[in-house]
Amino acid sequence: MSKTENKLEDIVSLCKRRGFIFPGSDVYGGMAGTWDFGPLGVILKKKLMDAWWKFWVEDREDMYAVDAAIIMNPITWEASGHTATFSDPLVECGACHGRFRADKLADGVNESVTTEEFLAQKVNCPTCGKCEWGPIRKFNMMFTTHVGAVLPDDTDEELVKKSITYLRPETAQGIFTNYKNVVDTIYPNIPFGIAQQGKAFRNEISPRDFILRDRECSQMEIEYFVRPDGWESAFDDLLKEYQRFLSEEMGLSSEKIHLLEVPAEDRAHYSKRTVDLEYDYPNGREELMGIAYRTDFDLQNIARASGKNMEYRDKNTGEVFVPHVVEPSIGVERLIMAVLTDAYAEDEIDGNKRVVLRLPENLAPYRFCVSPLLKNKPELVEKAKNVYQLLREKYGNVTWDDSGNIGKRYRKQDEVGTPKCVVIDFDTLEDDTVTVRDRDTAEQERVKIAEL
Ligand code: GAP
Repeated sequence: MSKTENKLEDIVSLCKRRGFIFPGSDVYGGMAGTWDFGPLGVILKKKLMDAWWKFWVEDREDMYAVDAAIIMNPITWEASGHTATFSDPLVECGACHGRFRADKLADGVNESVTTEEFLAQKVNCPTCGKCEWGPIRKFNMMFTTHVGAVLPDDTDEELVKKSITYLRPETAQGIFTNYKNVVDTIYPNIPFGIAQQGKAFRNEISPRDFILRDRECSQMEIEYFVRPDGWESAFDDLLKEYQRFLSEEMGLSSEKIHLLEVPAEDRAHYSKRTVDLEYDYPNGREELMGIAYRTDFDLQNIARASGKNMEYRDKNTGEVFVPHVVEPSIGVERLIMAVLTDAYAEDEIDGNKRVVLRLPENLAPYRFCVSPLLKNKPELVEKAKNVYQLLREKYGNVTWDDSGNIGKRYRKQDEVGTPKCVVIDFDTLEDDTVTVRDRDTAEQERVKIAEL
């Protein structure tokens, strides 16, 4: 009997219980919209990011990468349009002063909803139930910070203003601002991509749904530079390749992924076409990632704001043009959440209920768990330690468990997604074979140590 509807609370509880993900600043009561990865979560996250890196950067000949600073010259955000437009519609309840995203409270409106449109819907405040709304205000989601020896309450207002900069809300601008450096040092043939993995920060009005909407997240982005007439085929190719990546490398079921052609009024200010890949998360369908055609918007803005030439010279044809850009962008946390949703299952083995995380082998925090059948038999422990060492040398992430009885160990490893448990018993001492128990089927087979 397999549970088909995964409950968000079950996944949140498993993540905390088994050391995958904890609330940020947990010991002080938490910090909304922030999450910490624990010992197992950090391995999962690293494996996932490494799998992305291998697929999109190492295995391709048209891809380069950068690792840019998080704090950038504030001109970056003026030029990119983020200072002016990276905002959500904020509405405040006149009765309880709760603050909300207007487009998330009212039906059928988007981020450019007006006060009149919102009030016409007569929505009640989710906190106090009253309907006494103030006007909609634009709330810029970038986190402000001050750079240099300046205090926010310094009397020199000009100095304070000059010191303001932001934590980057997308990794993309660290790529665009390095486009010229990459072209001048690597001389890539167009089309080519520049990839980056890293933190991005957004002061979300209402962070929610576990790690789906965070104030601090990690993004994996590619800016793919093409000839102005080459964007459509690049868009289609990248989309297909991403679908392959999500199913083959991340183990996501394709029937849970849905393509959404984003209408013009819902697209980001820089995009002429966006396709979102939505995923059926436990609490409903949500954006997992997006592919956007950013035209030459960013490079032209940088050229204007910096006075530098962003043109590309085609070595073969001699043509000179400012490249256009197709951008696939995905959040690490949303991808982890999709992977966990797909992997989480509850079923029965020999009449006993269990929770099992059917993670793809390349993402499972541990490839193997090694244990002696009995921990009070030194000869079994010694042999098991040898096998443990052998597998560690060969596979890296291997865990040791000699706690409780063997059944409890299996349950624990099922919950953290370990594909195989290796048990050393008295027969091992005789014939150098071990029991290998499979996570998904719970079947056991005898295998020679040398064949592991
Ligand atoms: N450079 C383009 C860009 O940043 P976006 O649609 O705003 O576009 C891209 O973000 C992806 O980053 C999203 O599809 C999502 O996976 C992830 N993301 C964005 N905001 C997030 C948040 N607050 N928490 C978690 N992930 C987020």
